[in-house]
Amino acid sequence: MVNDTIPRGLLSLLLVASPVAAVRLWATSYNDHALYSLRLQYEGLTVTAKSLDCGSEPTWMTLDKGKSTLYCLNEGWGGNSSLTSYKVNEDASLETLDVLPVLKSPVSAALYGPNNNGLAVAHYDTSTFSSFDVKDTSNLALSQNETYTMAKPGPVPARQDAPHLHHTILDPSKKFMVVPDLGADLLRVYVLHRGYIAWSEIDPVQALPGSGPRHGVFATAGPKTFFYVLNELSNTITGYKVTYAPGALRMDRLFDVSSHGPGGSVPAGTSAAELKISPDQRFIIASSRGENSLTMPNFDPKNSTAVPSDPLISFKIDQATGSLTHVQTAPAGGRNPRGFNINKAGTLVAAALQDDNRVVVFERNISSGELAGIVGWATVGEGEGNGPNYALFDE
Ligand SMILES: *[C@@H]1O[C@H](CO)[C@@H](O)[C@H](O)[C@H]1NC(C)=O
Ligand SMILES: *[C@@H]1O[C@H](CO)[C@@H](O)[C@H](O)[C@H]1NC(C)=O
Ligand SMILES: *[C@@H]1O[C@H](CO)[C@@H](O)[C@H](O)[C@H]1NC(C)=O
Ligand SMILES: *[C@@H]1O[C@H](CO)[C@@H](O)[C@H](O)[C@H]1NC(C)=O
Repeated sequence: MVNDTIPRGLLSLLLVASPVAAVRLWATSYNDHALYSLRLQYEGLTVTAKSLDCGSEPTWMTLDKGKSTLYCLNEGWGGNSSLTSYKVNEDASLETLDVLPVLKSPVSAALYGPNNNGLAVAHYDTSTFSSFDVKDTSNLALSQNETYTMAKPGPVPARQDAPHLHHTILDPSKKFMVVPDLGADLLRVYVLHRGYIAWSEIDPVQALPGSGPRHGVFATAGPKTFFYVLNELSNTITGYKVTYAPGALRMDRLFDVSSHGPGGSVPAGTSAAELKISPDQRFIIASSRGENSLTMPNFDPKNSTAVPSDPLISFKIDQATGSLTHVQTAPAGGRNPRGFNINKAGTLVAAALQDDNRVVVFERNISSGELAGIVGWATVGEGEGNGPNYALFDE
């Protein structure tokens, strides 16, 4: 439906000509229970190692570059969930430091506190916000947790039977952690105790009923702060203006627009997934699953049949008002882009395509905010479906 917005570069699978200095990435895959190390070079993307120490369903990864430590969450669909810490060696190989059993279905983590000694975790199935003391990266420990209940299901009962915490987002002042709760239609807010990893809960922000807030980002624009949340159930993006008072963070809703931009729509069965902000704070990119309304050239050069793809949708942030302008709807590299990340320079985007056993790295134009050609792709995951779900740059 939006093929006309795809730039010409994306219609070619030839690797773009600009040389790429070696870039290291990781990707997690559910179906073969692995954390993959990958290297992107001029020749493309290659798998360099695999670790099975992130448990049965490896998902979200958090890097503490300063401590050369990578944290990996295991959703543990069967019930054995865990948090693994790895030392990242000079040659990018991973050395397991600790594996801590945690409450079921951790789906997102964020570092915070003095020297990044705290790791905040959202647990989906078990409706819990936890924090871990990761001061000693070889001896991880639970520090605090809060479990929520709901008196009755939300407007989308099949998905809102209980609170489902989905993301942990440190605010730009590093004083608050915001946690979208897909089940309860809330943005839960925690004040971080200065100088400690302890936290206290403050009043949550009400999200739109039935929206199912999933992932969010803060954006700073001069003295202003905005917050955007991608809603999985309504497939919309809600924008907020953020203001601070001592010990309080206030969010005033500015707008709620389709994940495809104002006036956009999605086919039945769509589930919005990931939301990231560009390092220059000028653009956000959303991923959407279950649409498959775009096509790309086949990744097998001998096969002329085009393959379906879900989109990555880029928006430009109006620095004065926080409103969003649609920039581009581009193929994500295949089906089910559950997780993706932008590199620090803003010049590369790595997407994990869960239903296609593929990780794809795109070039990105930092001036226009548009994705351009593919600079590399690799097969990640073995078996049908439920393959790679998160990709992260080592930087
Ligand atoms: C969890 O781990 C324990 C100990 O290794 C094992 O006995 C149990 O079967 C596992 N449970 C599930 C649901 O995988
Ligand atoms: C939550 O924290 C309490 C208090 O520290 C602890 O007793 C309990 O085991 C924790 N529960 C889980 C599931 O982490
Ligand atoms: C070509 O690609 C299509 C789409 O992925 C696939 O269904 C078909 O099996 C492929 N053909 C060959 C010969 O691999
Ligand atoms: C990046 O986008 C700008 C427009 O904002 C354009 O002028 C420039 O040519 C683009 N760069 C490349 C390499 O396509």
